[in-house]
Amino acid sequence: MLNLFFPEKTTVIVGLEIGTAKVAAVVGEVTDAGGVNVIGIGQCPSRGVRKGEVVNADLAAEDVRNAIVEAEKSADVEIASVYLGVTGGHLTSLNTHGVFTAASDDHEISQPDVNEVLANAKVFSRPSENHVLHAIRQHFTLNGQAGITDPIGMLGGKLELDMHVVHGVTTRLQNPVRVVKGLNLEVEEFVFSGLASSLALLDNEQKQMGVLVVDLGAGTTEYVVYADGVIKHTGILAVGGDHVTNDLSHGLRMAPARAGLLKREHGAATIEGAAGQTLTLTNENGFPDRRVNLEHLRRIMVARLDETFQLIDEDIGEQGFHEQLRAGVCLCGGGARIRDIEKLAEEVFGLPATLGRANAVGGLRSATDDPELATAVGLVKYGAIRQKSQRRVGLVGKLKNLAGSLGLF
Ligand SMILES: Nc1ncnc2c1ncn2[C@@H]1O[C@H](COP(=O)(O)OP(=O)(O)O)[C@@H](O)[C@H]1O
Ligand SMILES: [Mg+2]
Repeated sequence: MLNLFFPEKTTVIVGLEIGTAKVAAVVGEVTDAGGVNVIGIGQCPSRGVRKGEVVNADLAAEDVRNAIVEAEKSADVEIASVYLGVTGGHLTSLNTHGVFTAASDDHEISQPDVNEVLANAKVFSRPSENHVLHAIRQHFTLNGQAGITDPIGMLGGKLELDMHVVHGVTTRLQNPVRVVKGLNLEVEEFVFSGLASSLALLDNEQKQMGVLVVDLGAGTTEYVVYADGVIKHTGILAVGGDHVTNDLSHGLRMAPARAGLLKREHGAATIEGAAGQTLTLTNENGFPDRRVNLEHLRRIMVARLDETFQLIDEDIGEQGFHEQLRAGVCLCGGGARIRDIEKLAEEVFGLPATLGRANAVGGLRSATDDPELATAVGLVKYGAIRQKSQRRVGLVGKLKNLAGSLGLF
């Protein structure tokens, strides 16, 4: 019988990205199968953020409020809390290693042993003013046997754990949190934006095969490497589409607003087909006022984008991840709208590159199709995973399923 008085409780989860170009709020419902259905989106141009960090809290608060109000109207819900994306050049990542040694090799690994190896892996040197944003388990190794996902109940004397850690300057992480709290909204958790974007786009097979996700934003470019099903590396460059616009503004000697428009309308990540072409620009009265060489425009863009990809390529190469990326490169962020950007990525990384689409997400079309919504959509997915694992913890009473545990991402 249909119960009209106690309808089945659906969980509404909100992802919020306070980006350099825009603030985006995405409202999602978690389906029974664990998928995410996007039921509302709110967006607002962002005025209080530079290079991914809040520089004007009042303006940022106004923009967040606008995005949230729009999302509430669009989803017809009241928003009380959000999962918040964070980024910035102060974030650092590293892989750490923890060891636990028992008295003998026929020791049965228990939960306290796992807790000890976890605690041990979390001991690494970092500036005292830094806060650990993520400590994500990768693999356990038991007496030299690598790739163990859950060692509890197994026999062994030496348990090791590899972990991926992201940390950043506490005060700088707190700035966007304070903006949100100032609007009487709870922050459920804050999550590295690049990690959120990767959650939106990737399926398990890609994570297993090895993949690089690059989120090309306005003031920052975030990237994440997965292989063997776990996060191997994360990084961030304080460079993005704003720099492309600036380069064009200098190179073509025109106002940044005009350069930004030209970038969007005529830009590309290749000079192919541009030779000899000229654009005639008109002034505000519609009269022709100057000519721009299209090849010159695109050369400027290619130089900056190529450099950005090179920096990422060098970083992942140094860490030895290049060979592990069998599923290639997946692009998102507003920069993924640049014509032929995937071709440039293929050239620089020497790997197949695709424009990412949100995976296992239904509902509003733009949630899957708009590359700049990847972070906010991914935050909803993160929230869904978190709440599911917390329910499980509640049921079973085990702490080992908390987020950050193996296989969660
Ligand atoms: N069609 C396009 N061609 C080139 N750049 C674009 C296009 N659409 C958006 N962008 C650029 O993408 C950036 C915004 O991306 P977004 O992911 O929203 O940034 P953020 O997350 O930092 O707010 C801006 O620099 C914008 O100029
Ligand atoms: Mg972004």
